[in-house]
Amino acid sequence: MEDQIRRIEESLMSFVPKGNESIETVIKSMEYSLTAGGKRVRPVLVLEFAKLCGGNEEAAMPFACAIEMIHTYSLIHDDLPCMDDDDMRRGKPTNHKVFGEAAAVLGGDGLLTLAFETVLSERAVSLNGTEKCVSAGRLLASCAGAEGMIGGQIIDLESEGKSISVERLRLMDKLKTGALIRCACLLGCISAGADEAQIKAASEYAECIGLAFQIVDDMLDVTSDEATLGKPIGSDEGNNKSTYVSLLGLDRCRELVSELTDEAISALSVFGGDTDFLSSFAKALRDRRS
Ligand code: IPE
Ligand code: IPE
Ligand code: MG
Ligand code: MG
Ligand code: MG
Repeated sequence: MEDQIRRIEESLMSFVPKGNESIETVIKSMEYSLTAGGKRVRPVLVLEFAKLCGGNEEAAMPFACAIEMIHTYSLIHDDLPCMDDDDMRRGKPTNHKVFGEAAAVLGGDGLLTLAFETVLSERAVSLNGTEKCVSAGRLLASCAGAEGMIGGQIIDLESEGKSISVERLRLMDKLKTGALIRCACLLGCISAGADEAQIKAASEYAECIGLAFQIVDDMLDVTSDEATLGKPIGSDEGNNKSTYVSLLGLDRCRELVSELTDEAISALSVFGGDTDFLSSFAKALRDRRS
């Protein structure tokens, strides 16, 4: 996986505009967050689902980069003072701490738009064909937009200081985190030209690991430490957030994450190919420390 992550990071940088000094500040802001590390969970999912469905890494790579750009932009904006107001991300000062709020907003916007440029790039089209790139762009837009990640973020902000139902919390997490994770798995399917049964199974797997992923994120905000996590702990409590931990407690969270991980792994049984990596990946996300 290390080699795969290195290839993802090289490709990410290959899509960032170069040599245009007149817009240096915003490019630096984009590059800063894009190269700050991170687990690269979403691009890995794109590439692995592409391979599992008979596609290949090279063709899926522009889609993998696009989802990581959108994810990174969502983190830059999530950390802003008007949102979660956090000072550390991926083990480094948050984007607005380095570049100021305006350049952080614009760096985020730059990454969001670069994601669509990437999905529609000549490289993406020549490797996947126009039709798959259109499908990928449409999926990316709907998962990142108001009915996807953005929608989850507004529910998150509006739930601060309130007690919300578990159903609403589930919807919030399904949107703010689940949508991009599901998008990643399905982008791999699109690049590979997967059939309907494969897409349905990928979607089931994604929905389970997506929810588990946010529950673990909420748990780590309570149980971890900043050096391990690369971002502040106690952020949710500090902002009076509604989370699975605040509503159900850590023990029930642990049970839920374990059930969701088992469910995700069961969903992989539809695939004929080797699902060992994606099974182990679901377990690694369940057991992660950062
Ligand atoms: C953090 O995502 C935000 C959530 C959606 C929970 P990640 O935990 O994937 O963050 P990085 O990319 O590794 O920094
Ligand atoms: C963030 O959820 C989800 C998105 C950025 C869309 P959190 O606010 O819990 O993420 P962290 O904990 O700051 O990474
Ligand atoms: Mg947040
Ligand atoms: Mg946050
Ligand atoms: Mg969090």
